[in-house]
Amino acid sequence: MDANVRDLLNDQVGNEFHAAYLYLAMAGHFETHGYQGFAQWFRMQAREESGHAMRLFDYLVERGEEVELKQIDQPPKSFGSPQEAFRAALEHERKVTGQINRIYEAASAASDYPTQIMLQWFIQEQVEEEQSTGRAVEQLEMAGENRAALLMLDTSFGERSSGEG
Ligand code: FEO
Repeated sequence: MDANVRDLLNDQVGNEFHAAYLYLAMAGHFETHGYQGFAQWFRMQAREESGHAMRLFDYLVERGEEVELKQIDQPPKSFGSPQEAFRAALEHERKVTGQINRIYEAASAASDYPTQIMLQWFIQEQVEEEQSTGRAVEQLEMAGENRAALLMLDTSFGERSSGEG
């Protein structure tokens, strides 16, 4: 495998775990602010991100490449209002989309076809993640400061039990 592609894939294992860590921190934030539903949503999101990291880990192993785990930065402790937290999550997803695109570009430049095929799953996943997080932001912005509306959204987001957003 091209060294640049391998390095980017190794970095992405860390980036996905970083996303998991960030969303787990958001789950903790909401647990302590009375929004158990938003907390559940972010717990599920964190679990998905760990799955993404493992998918890349497994791919490196499958290709016979060395896995090099990088340091994971500490996430913030506090995230403000639900609107602010979900907006930060959307920003983060856009950042991840950029990371995935850069790996795809490197794989294309290196004529690494298997990596391009593997990354197609991630490219599609990012479309879904940006859509589901973007929809959450829209709903929260509609609710504004209305406590009753926010609590209704908290209940509805708390019904998330699997991967889908
Ligand atoms: Fe693994 Fe939400 O990007």
